[in-house]
Amino acid sequence: MAMSKPVRCLITAGPTREHLDPVRYLSNGSSGKMGYALAATAVALGWEVDLVSGPVALKAPEGVRLHKVVSAEDMLAACEPIFANCDVLIAVAAVADYRAAQIDEKKQKKIAGPITITLVPTVDVLKTLSQRKRAGQCLVGFAAETNDIETYAQKKLREKNLDFIVANDVSQPGLGMDADDNAVILLSATGRRECFGPANKARVAEFILKAIAPELRAQAS
Ligand code: CTP
Repeated sequence: MAMSKPVRCLITAGPTREHLDPVRYLSNGSSGKMGYALAATAVALGWEVDLVSGPVALKAPEGVRLHKVVSAEDMLAACEPIFANCDVLIAVAAVADYRAAQIDEKKQKKIAGPITITLVPTVDVLKTLSQRKRAGQCLVGFAAETNDIETYAQKKLREKNLDFIVANDVSQPGLGMDADDNAVILLSATGRRECFGPANKARVAEFILKAIAPELRAQAS
């Protein structure tokens, strides 16, 4: 029997940080748990996994190639060469959307009154990579929303040229961002719609990878 090649999987995870000065930064409360759970599950399925992760307090799952990054720009730079040769990209990272127009090299001193910081958008890692999508590559995004979840998720599915998007409601305490559990709606560009959870993130990861795996096999053949 011919040995099939392992699926090459790139996962982005955790928050990113955009420094204002050497000690302060903009970020968010992402723990990285969903991305790391996906990485562990992908390894268990026999996939080759590159995990590009922002700063988190988690240990990389055994068997994963870990690439540590800080900012959105670092994340894109780390992903670019891996993306070129991967079969599936799963973008779970909660990338900080803005950065300071100017980063101060020295720690800024506090002043008595209010201050104004000019923020500019960071690079969209997933959208940048999706513009280079090759035939046969499968792209999966996440949409963390507090309202109009499916409407926004559908918009991201289209605008980021994705095959799947995993939408989750982050307005519920104990679910989604920085929690152990998640409840998700998986939408596909072909019109599939499947709900899963609430369940712990390991089970959610299994659900997601099992749902997308047939698509990978179909594209490989
Ligand atoms: N994403 C990314 N780079 C960014 C922003 C988002 O790679 N600068 C990816 C995320 O990893 C996720 C998807 O795009 O897979 C959607 O991220 P989300 O933060 O929900 O959406 P945004 O495009 O940032 O839109 P908004 O914050 O307005 O909801």
